[in-house]
Amino acid sequence: MTRQSALIDTRVIYCGDCLDQLAGLPNHCVDLIYIDPPFNSNRNYEVFWGETKEKRSFEDRHASTQAYIEFMRPRCVELVRVLKPTGSFFYHCDWHASHYVRLMLDQIFGENNFQSEIIWRRNSAKGLAFRGFANNHDTIHYYAGSGFTWNPIVQPYDPDNLDAKTAGKYSHRDPDGRLYQLDNLINPNPNRPNLTYEFMGVKRVWRWTKERMEAARQAGLVVQPSPGAVPRFKRYLDEQEGRAIDDVWTDIPPLNSQAQERLGYPTQKPLALLERIVKAASKPNDIVLDAFCGCGTALHAAENLKRQWIGIDISPTSCRVMANRLRRECALPENEDLWRAGRGFIVRDLPRSEAELRKIPPFEFENWAVIALGGIPNKAQVGDKGIDGRIYPVSAIEHRRDAAR
Ligand SMILES: C[S@@+](CC[C@H](N)C(=O)[O-])C[C@H]1O[C@@H](n2cnc3c(N)ncnc32)[C@H](O)[C@@H]1O
Repeated sequence: MTRQSALIDTRVIYCGDCLDQLAGLPNHCVDLIYIDPPFNSNRNYEVFWGETKEKRSFEDRHASTQAYIEFMRPRCVELVRVLKPTGSFFYHCDWHASHYVRLMLDQIFGENNFQSEIIWRRNSAKGLAFRGFANNHDTIHYYAGSGFTWNPIVQPYDPDNLDAKTAGKYSHRDPDGRLYQLDNLINPNPNRPNLTYEFMGVKRVWRWTKERMEAARQAGLVVQPSPGAVPRFKRYLDEQEGRAIDDVWTDIPPLNSQAQERLGYPTQKPLALLERIVKAASKPNDIVLDAFCGCGTALHAAENLKRQWIGIDISPTSCRVMANRLRRECALPENEDLWRAGRGFIVRDLPRSEAELRKIPPFEFENWAVIALGGIPNKAQVGDKGIDGRIYPVSAIEHRRDAAR
């Protein structure tokens, strides 16, 4: 069980424009911010909720890249205000605006706080390029203040896909295919009388005691290339920690249509991607904030890794989808009393008054109305004969109701 922050409420999803919601947070209160705002892709996403062809759309359209930057700038200024001076900030975008986003963030954070431009290879190009190169990566700009948290992420070596330097080093292979290098057994300090002895017919100052050398030899880990030659140690590749990952990430595929974690949310990012970011740049119990959190991937990752979290999204439907995800995938109860007692989570500021409901897009209202009456929204929107949802007899299929919330 992670601890609630004394400074701010955590394990809360706020429904609303993050510009307004962030104004309610104090200065310097969160440790890590990840945002994946709507890109300037100049198109409407066709949103398919679930496996059926229910089409919904959310606007991802700005009149120009400049308009997009002007929309994002005040929100990023607010995000920097709530970030601790030691905090980390990740902005996920793509080719449409990443160059403008970088300039804007340099201005807001100071270019000295820029850490990395992470390239996340999608492994499935977005659209075919009939002329030119297909766009096949997203960009994640990473900024951090001085004294920021950094936990290196190490990846096991893939023996079939080694970089030239590692392949050159681990150039020997056992009959069973294991790769190894021959390492030095001689002590760099020549003044170690207790480690000076004869081993396999060779007198040297050795790294280890005679007993340890003998044990290694008996385990088949010492090689003497020829009689009288200096014995060497077999260091296996698969026993090494691995390679610290760099800023080009090619090992996390985007979610495909069969992915188990897929919720039907069009821009849902893989959990592994968010877990990598949260692991690298925060500690347990740190506070993670996602101010454009869609179906809640960052919150799910933070919860899995025992961090505190705050989510904000303007869409009431997104807020319900992520609440459902947290209940199901993280077994977190959505309950005000339990939340007050330090367990569970809450969703705040879902629209309730007529004036608030009038502001939300028609499909959001339709969803809200069906759910408010205790129904399940109709999955088929096109050709639905005017049926927006269904109400089933009490307790008939509780899990179906739950699925649609
Ligand atoms: C690209 S999606 C985020 C996807 C998310 N990373 C995930 O894995 O589920 C962007 C989200 O930003 C939300 N959004 C758009 N404008 C917003 C605003 N002004 N304040 C808060 N959320 C906003 C949209 O409703 C959408 O859910």
